[in-house]
Order: sequence, then C-alpha cells, then structure tokens
Amino acid sequence: MTKSKFLIKGLGGKKSLRGVIGVNGAKNAALKLMAASILFKDEVVLKNIPDIEDIRHTADLLDKLGFTVKREGKRTYKIKPTKHINYELSSETAKRLRASIVLTGPVLARLGKVKFPHPGGCVIGKRPIDLFLDGFKKMGARVADKNGSYVISTQSGKLNGAEIFLRVPSVTGTETFMMAGVLAKGTTIIKNAAMEPEITHLAEFLVSSGAKISGAGTPTITIKGGGLLSQKKPHTAMPDRIEAGSFLILGALVAKDLLIKDCNPNHLEILIDALRSSGVKIDTEKNSIRVRSSKNDYKPMDIKTHEYPGFPTDLQAPMTVFLTQATGESFVFETIFEGRLNYTESLVRMGAEIKMMDPHRIIVKGPSPLHGKVLESPDLRAGLAFVVAAIVASGDSIVHNVRNIDRGYERVEERLREIGVDIARVEAEEERAGL
Ligand code: UD1
Repeated sequence: MTKSKFLIKGLGGKKSLRGVIGVNGAKNAALKLMAASILFKDEVVLKNIPDIEDIRHTADLLDKLGFTVKREGKRTYKIKPTKHINYELSSETAKRLRASIVLTGPVLARLGKVKFPHPGGCVIGKRPIDLFLDGFKKMGARVADKNGSYVISTQSGKLNGAEIFLRVPSVTGTETFMMAGVLAKGTTIIKNAAMEPEITHLAEFLVSSGAKISGAGTPTITIKGGGLLSQKKPHTAMPDRIEAGSFLILGALVAKDLLIKDCNPNHLEILIDALRSSGVKIDTEKNSIRVRSSKNDYKPMDIKTHEYPGFPTDLQAPMTVFLTQATGESFVFETIFEGRLNYTESLVRMGAEIKMMDPHRIIVKGPSPLHGKVLESPDLRAGLAFVVAAIVASGDSIVHNVRNIDRGYERVEERLREIGVDIARVEAEEERAGL
C-alpha cells in the first residue's frame, strides 16, 4: 500500500472555482447492496459502485465467503454465490471496515451461523455492536465469544422473526436486521428504525427482488420472511449525499459558479436550508445543485447533528469549516459520535477560533482567515473537511494520510482539479525518487 499525501495551494478566500463536479454512487448505499447479495440465489448486478477502498474490502469479504465477485469496467459488480458458502468473515479484512458488520445479518440468515471479529473502521469514538448482538438474540440466535471473535448461531439453521426495538436508531443496525428478516421464519418488526435514504434504497432493491418489506424510511419497518431472492434487473446505487454536501459547502465558500451534478437535492434538505439561511445562493434541479458566489457575509448558526432527516454527522466537519468563515458565533453539537470533534484542533492551528466546551460541543467564532498547514487526516469525513479548509486557506497545505479520504471518496483530487483547485497527490515512492 502506498502512502499518499495531498499538496494543496489555498485560494486565500478568493471565490474562483467554477465548472461542473460529478457525484459518485454512495459508499454507504453500495456497501449494503453488496452485503445484500448474500440473500440471493443467483447473480446480482450492481452499477454505479464507487471505486474506493471500503468497496474493495467488501468485495474481498464476499469472495472469501464463497461468492464469485466480478468487476466489469470501473463501477459494475457481478456477485454470484458458489456451491460452498462459509460462515466466517475474513478477520483481517473485517477488522479494517466498520461496515463489515452489515454482512453478519445476511450470512446468519442464510446459513444459520456467522463468525466475525469486532469490526474496525473510522476512529470516531466508541463504536459498540451491542444492538446487533441483542437483536440477533431476539431472533433466536446464541452469541458466543471465542478467542476474540463472535460466533452467532441458531439451533434450527434459521433465524426467527422478532420485534426489535433499537435503543438508538442505528443505520447499519436497521439495515442488518432488515436483511436478516428477509430470510427469517415469520415476521420481523424493527422499531425506532433509522430513516436514512440509504435504508429506503436498500429496501427498494430487496423488494424489487422479491422481499416483503414495508415501512422503510419510517421508524417502523416490517419484514415478512421468505426464501432466497432473485434479481429482475441490474440495480444502480443512489448518489452519495455526503459527497454532494461536501462539494456544496466547498462551493459556498470558494466558488464563483459551481454545478454539482448527479446528486439528489432532496436528500440534502437540511444542509441546503441551513446554507440558504446563512446567505448562500443555491438553486436546485431534480439531479443537480448550483451554488454561486455571494458577498462573504454569511450568518452564523447553530448545528446539531441528528439522525436523518436531521443534520448528518458525516457533514459536521465540513460544515464547521464553513462556520469558521461566517460572521459571528456559531454553535455545533455533535450528538451521534463521541470524539468526532477532535479534528477541530487542526482547524485552530490553521487560524480558526474554536472553543471546545466538551467532547460533543464547540463554539466557532468567525470569520477567521485560515492559513495553510501540515495536516493529518484523522478519518474520512474530517479528512475531506481538511481538504476544504486547505482550499479556503491562504498558502500551501499538506494533507497526510490520504488513505483515509480514499476510503470514502473516489480520486477526489481529480474532480477538484477540474473545477480549478490546485491539488496534487504525491505518493511516497515518488517522494523517495525526489519528485
Ligand atoms: C452509519 C454510517 C456512517 C454515519 C452513521 C451515522 C455506514 C457504513 N456508516 O454508521 O457514515 O456516520 O451511520 O449516520 O452506513 N450504537 C450503539 N450500539 C450499536 C451500534 C451503534 O450504541 O450496536 C451507537 C453508536 O455508537 C452511535 C449511534 O449508535 O452513537 C449511531 O451509530 P450508527 O447509526 O450505528 O452508525 P453506523 O451505522 O456505524
């Protein structure tokens, strides 16, 4: 694995970006569509799958479970079960990917057994899996901890439908139980379910392939269990709302005229509303968002992250960069993850005036001119926020640990360059060669 860094020449607040930037398929939808292929009796064709590391890890997990995974072109995957599917998630790969947890539901539902390690992923505070273990128990499974791995098994080889109340509306939890319910005996009801668009999208895919699911996109989802699914036609992953939202924030800060295409503005209502009320000029069409430069006298605001349709925690870091440029005092309350404000120390080094009240709350005073610095991307969302901050800043920045950004965003620098950002990727090898 090569180590990359981004070299970014900041615009010093100049609003000069212009052109069109495209949004790729959603990582958080694509991963679940791939996991869902475990529920099928024959081949599944998935399109618009982003070419990113988390997807390659998921493909590897499926391959090791006994699925044939073929990639056609850059973004189409064909996934097909072989005769021998096994119940063990590759420990090495699963540990690198938090979303590996969503494979446990379909594997357990199909085989009656699953073995997996505690999943890895972004370092954004504690990421427990108690809700998953409790839900599986409700569905009649036994949970054992063997040498650091979880082994979950059913006596009859089948999960039973159950009523599962989620203490917190976990996104991957909702998706996992929705998929598990598809092959369970009887009816599964998920209460206090998460309502993210990726969940509705997954449900639509499953229903179009024969599953009986109602209520996805509401707090109560009902799944009537049945047999293995069969795909009628190739399925295209929905656009990435977090990528689109990050580009919109970047545009609000430094674009003269930017068109964000291939996205769904309906999934970004809260961000668009917040930016408009701050003074940003935004026009939306069915599949695109246009942002034009206005006088940089943006109003401050209070942001509280919340489950969908509230403000997405995955856009909290880029939004905080925006708030450093608004005039006055803003307040950011991160309610979903602990430790997801630690990156603000780096923004302070760049010149931002941010005061941390406690691990969940900050006060941002703006506008503060930002200055280029050497930054270390701590996780994929804060990593992209650093790229945004470096573009806004004056002078040069280096963003290390680009691998974290690559986990979620496909060659983002190429797309940014197209709209006028001075950004280069430098690989460690090139550096050694003196480039
Ligand atoms: C998903 C998204 C991630 C996003 C997050 C919140 C994927 C692959 N990732 O993550 O990008 O930031 O939703 O929108 O879709 N929790 C428990 N016990 C559990 C599971 C979760 O207490 O067993 C808590 C978490 O600590 C957190 C909250 O529930 O405080 C919400 O997390 P969750 O919705 O599960 O996040 P993910 O599904 O991991």
